[in-house]
Amino acid sequence: MKEKVQELTQKIQDFQIIDAKSLENFRITFIKNEIPELMGLMKSIPNEQKKEFGQLVNGLKNLAQEKFDVSKEKLDNQPMQELPPFDLTLPIIPNATGTLHPLTLIRQRIVDIFAKMGFSVADGAEIEDDWHNFSALNFPPNHPARDMQDTFFVDEDIVLRTHTSSVQVRLMENKKPPLRAIMPGRVFRNEAITARAHCIFHQVEGLYVDENVSLVDLKQTLYHFVKEMFGQDTQVRFRSSYFPFTEVSAEVDISCQMNNPQGCSICGGSKNVCKGTGWVEILGCGMVHPNVLENCGIDSEKYTGFAFGMGIERIAMLKYRVKDLRLFTENDIRFLRQFSETWGN
Ligand code: DAH
Repeated sequence: MKEKVQELTQKIQDFQIIDAKSLENFRITFIKNEIPELMGLMKSIPNEQKKEFGQLVNGLKNLAQEKFDVSKEKLDNQPMQELPPFDLTLPIIPNATGTLHPLTLIRQRIVDIFAKMGFSVADGAEIEDDWHNFSALNFPPNHPARDMQDTFFVDEDIVLRTHTSSVQVRLMENKKPPLRAIMPGRVFRNEAITARAHCIFHQVEGLYVDENVSLVDLKQTLYHFVKEMFGQDTQVRFRSSYFPFTEVSAEVDISCQMNNPQGCSICGGSKNVCKGTGWVEILGCGMVHPNVLENCGIDSEKYTGFAFGMGIERIAMLKYRVKDLRLFTENDIRFLRQFSETWGN
C-alpha cells in the first residue's frame, strides 16, 4: 500500500502543468479519480493500520490540491499573449451579403424589358372585391368561367385576388388612356401545393390602351419580350384560347428545344415541362374585351387595348431550369445561393 502512495506522490510531483488544459487534466486524473480511489481502499485495511494509511492519503490529497492551486494562480495571472502588430491600413474583409431571390431577379428582368418599351409599373391590393377581380373583367355572375380560378374568399364579396388582372381594372377606372403599364404582384388560388402548382404565386399583368391599338401591337410586343427574356433563337407561337376579359384571346408558347441536339434542354429526359411537344406555355393574352373597357368608363368605340398576364414562377422555372415550384418558397440557402450571378442570356 505504501508503495502505491509513493508511486502516486511521484506522479503528482512529476506532472507538468503548463496551460489550462493540462491543469484540468491534472485535476481529473488525481483529485477526481486516483486519490478518491485510494481512499476507497480504506475498508480493506486492517484496523491498526487505518490511521497511518489515512494520514498518508490525506497528505497526498493536500499535495495534489496545493499543486493545483498554485498552478492555477500562476496561469490566471499570466500576462495575455502578445498580439501581432495590427495594420490599420489593411483592406477590410467584406461581410458576405445575401442574394436576390430568383423570383425577384425575374420580376426585375420582366419590368426592365417592358420599361424599355415605355411601360410604367402599377400596383394594386392583394385583397380585392368581386367587382375588380371578376365582374368588371366580364365574368358573369354564377358563370362557370369563375370556376377557372379556385378562389379564397375573405367575405361573401371579398377575395384574395386570383390574378393581377384586377389591377388592370383599377388602372382603367382611375386613369384616362393612353395607358401603358405592367403590374407585378402576388396572387392566390385554392390549390394543393405540388411541384407544378402553389396556392400563392406571382404574376405580371400588362395593359396597353390607346386609339388604334391592334393585335399586331400585342404580337410584336410579346415577340420582343420573349426574345429579350429567352434569347433571339427562341420560337414563339400564338394559340387561340378563351378568357372572359379578352376578345380575341390567345396563349403564347415558346420553343423548349433551345437548339439542344440531345432534346429538350429544359425538361431533360423526363419531358415533364413540355410533355415532349417541344413547346411550353408562358402567358395568356388578348385584345381587351369592349365590355371591360366600358365597365371601367372607357369609350370602346374610340379606344382599343391589349392585355397579357404571365406567371413569374413559370418564367423563372424555364429560365433557370427549376423543376419543382416548391423550391422557390422553401428558403433553402443552398438553392437560393445559386442565383447570385448577374443576369446573362
Ligand atoms: N388572368 C389570367 C390568369 O390568371 C392571365 C391573363 C390572360 C391575363 C389573358 C390577361 C389576359 O391580361 O389578357 O390566368
